[in-house]
Amino acid sequence: MSATLNDTKRLAIAEQLAGMKALQRLLISVDQMLLDALDGALRPRLQKMLEQDQKNLSILETVIVQYGIQAQPKDTIEQQVKTLHSLMESSDLTLAEKVSQHELLKHQQTMTGLVIHKIAQRVGADVEAAITPLHTINFENRAHQEQLKGMIELLGVRELTGQDAEQGLWARVEDAIAALAGIAGSLITRTDDEIPIRELLLMDHSKADVLFTEILGSDDPQKIQEYFGQLYSDVTIHGLAEEQVLYPAVQPHYSQMPEIFDQTDGVIEMLDDIKALNPTDPNFKAQIEQVRIAVRSHVNQEEKDIFPKLKDCFSHEQQKQLATDFKAAKKQLQEQMAANDSKSLKSV
Ligand SMILES: [Fe+2]
Ligand SMILES: [Fe+2]
Repeated sequence: MSATLNDTKRLAIAEQLAGMKALQRLLISVDQMLLDALDGALRPRLQKMLEQDQKNLSILETVIVQYGIQAQPKDTIEQQVKTLHSLMESSDLTLAEKVSQHELLKHQQTMTGLVIHKIAQRVGADVEAAITPLHTINFENRAHQEQLKGMIELLGVRELTGQDAEQGLWARVEDAIAALAGIAGSLITRTDDEIPIRELLLMDHSKADVLFTEILGSDDPQKIQEYFGQLYSDVTIHGLAEEQVLYPAVQPHYSQMPEIFDQTDGVIEMLDDIKALNPTDPNFKAQIEQVRIAVRSHVNQEEKDIFPKLKDCFSHEQQKQLATDFKAAKKQLQEQMAANDSKSLKSV
């Protein structure tokens, strides 16, 4: 089953997410350029947008790690980023025109995020689970578009007439954002730039549950192969990242940690054994069921024993640092997995 780890549809989503990350970086640098050029009343609005864009870059990086496949953006996106960057730095455009370009970029980012959601619905429930935090980014990008439209109107009128636009402009903008918030509902609750460590671990645990259900519920060998490829890399990388970052940190507070290490190694070995099988092998699903039970029992112990330790023995800042380190370890392992096979991961 060596060809399983890089299903083409899944790689295409990874490429789209990498494109969003490149564009998000551009949005941040344009925010900064405009912030330097804008006057009093518009500055606080743009300052807030910049802060949200920076937070969303961090959430986007988390989404990519949760998704589990690292990729490069398409060449066309990188080209676009370069072109727009120099256009924004030049004096060829008026300020209103620059804000107009910025709004177009925001539009592109919003649409990419929405399209990724639609693709995820077609590819698998595990993909939907991994990219859930994109809802926050999409909502805020839509809200930013409304703000930017207000700025374009104000600056455009001012540049051409020397006067301010009619009263009530910002009230209209706020109404439009409130209407969007009504549609987005409870999906828009992220304010911190780092998703808490327990939430990150839970997201991984439930993504694994979804993948097991997808594998056991499918009769299509190709789909099974695709889901197993994702499960194999997700669970192996999650376990190794826990061994690198989480378990050593919690060890002083938890006497049964050697057991937890053994369970993790055991699960990774079981997955390696299954990797050698063909999905049509009569033992395939029975072995998947065995590893599912082993993972669930390990995860239950982790959530019951280790989660309270994280909550009680670590400060908010320490938990945030653990989340950052866990995410970085996973990203590095994902990059290695893309380049090598799993055997080489264990020896690093
Ligand atoms: Fe875990
Ligand atoms: Fe674990």
